[in-house]
Amino acid sequence: MSEDWTLRCVRCEAGYPALELRYTCTCGGTLDVEHRAPDITLAQLDARLASKDPLDRSGVWRFRELILPLAREHIVTMPEGNTNLYDLPPVADWLGLDRLQLKHEGENPTGSFKDRGMTTGTSVAKRLGMTEVACASTGNTSASMAAYAARAGLRPYVFIPEGKIAYGKLSQALAYGARTVQIAGDFDAAMALVQDVCRREGIYLLNSVNPFRIEGQKAIGFEILQDLDWQVPDWIVLPGGNLGNNSALSKGLMELLALGLIDRLPRIAVIQAAGANPLYTAWTEGGDVVPVRGAKTRATAIQIGDPISWRKSLRGLRASHGTVEQVTDGEILDAKARLDRSGVGAEPASCATVAGLKKLVVAGVVKRDEHVVGILTGHLLKDPDIVVGYHKNTLDGIDPAYPNRPVSSESELEAVLEAMRG
Ligand code: F0G
Repeated sequence: MSEDWTLRCVRCEAGYPALELRYTCTCGGTLDVEHRAPDITLAQLDARLASKDPLDRSGVWRFRELILPLAREHIVTMPEGNTNLYDLPPVADWLGLDRLQLKHEGENPTGSFKDRGMTTGTSVAKRLGMTEVACASTGNTSASMAAYAARAGLRPYVFIPEGKIAYGKLSQALAYGARTVQIAGDFDAAMALVQDVCRREGIYLLNSVNPFRIEGQKAIGFEILQDLDWQVPDWIVLPGGNLGNNSALSKGLMELLALGLIDRLPRIAVIQAAGANPLYTAWTEGGDVVPVRGAKTRATAIQIGDPISWRKSLRGLRASHGTVEQVTDGEILDAKARLDRSGVGAEPASCATVAGLKKLVVAGVVKRDEHVVGILTGHLLKDPDIVVGYHKNTLDGIDPAYPNRPVSSESELEAVLEAMRG
């Protein structure tokens, strides 16, 4: 395995053997997994769509030559991916787009895109002979890691900012049996702590600083292109928090381009919450990403001020001639109401994609006739409290544009009819 992979620092380009237990370079930079050019054709990848082999049935391992050359016995799969790419005319009309499609990553086994990175992360943990795994999380990473660890027989520890993650996600971590440590602090504090804990205790770290997580998440882009018969869209739009996902997307697409499997890159647009916007600031003002202290947004999944993968993220944005936009919580929740009402809903952070697109179309950055794919990163039921709060208009500082208030009725026919039609 180590012959095929190298870990390469994105900052100083130092190289390390892939089997060395490390997540960052001695210079502090994050690491990329470098592969030897795989021998695979698009026709071979397409043929696997009709296969009954469990690895071919995974929307990650179907692309295994482009992900990781791991032996089958180490692979932990649910299977993940195979999420739908939806045409949603009501949302496209609202945004003023002719060709919009939304890839729903909330349809993964634990309800978010994290499963794509966790299948590779836990598989490598097994390959390395690790017995314990840990992550800091705004909720989805911990839900996913807890489930995959349970499948793999690994002991999971999750570190979450107390009171700052949605209940759907907390309940998953508890249900799948993770030892759940609620930190009196924010995600950035939990992230710093979990790295110290893993270093001291020899626990395998499964945040997206782990380069093998990124390798699995590349498959979102591969699957979008396969869904589109390998025709490259003009834009792929997604939310940004710790910035692992957009880094993975651009890395995978750049690798496809280098292999000659596609002929150009889509432009990538990353959308941040205005209260947690260090990438947006760096992109618009130039220079490195400077952490935002006390990041604050109701889209708790992306309430992150000190993103780990910022260097990889900027690299991908530059290579793809991409852009970064920011949106307020009000914009996110109104966009969410429009999306949810189409019948294909998603959690708040995912709806930053839709809210950001709205702004990019109005600004003329994204043109009406361009082919746009948006990524919805998590399931609507991850955060039911915010949905009810929005529709009942009980969220402080939010003035809902599209509320759907529940009505109450006496238990009697005429009253019910009145409540229905009134
Ligand atoms: N959308 C959702 C639903 C998320 O859970 C996350 C990140 C993101 C978007 C942003 O992705 O961090 O790769 O830029 N959630 C992490 C977690 C941080 O702990 O679950 P990113």
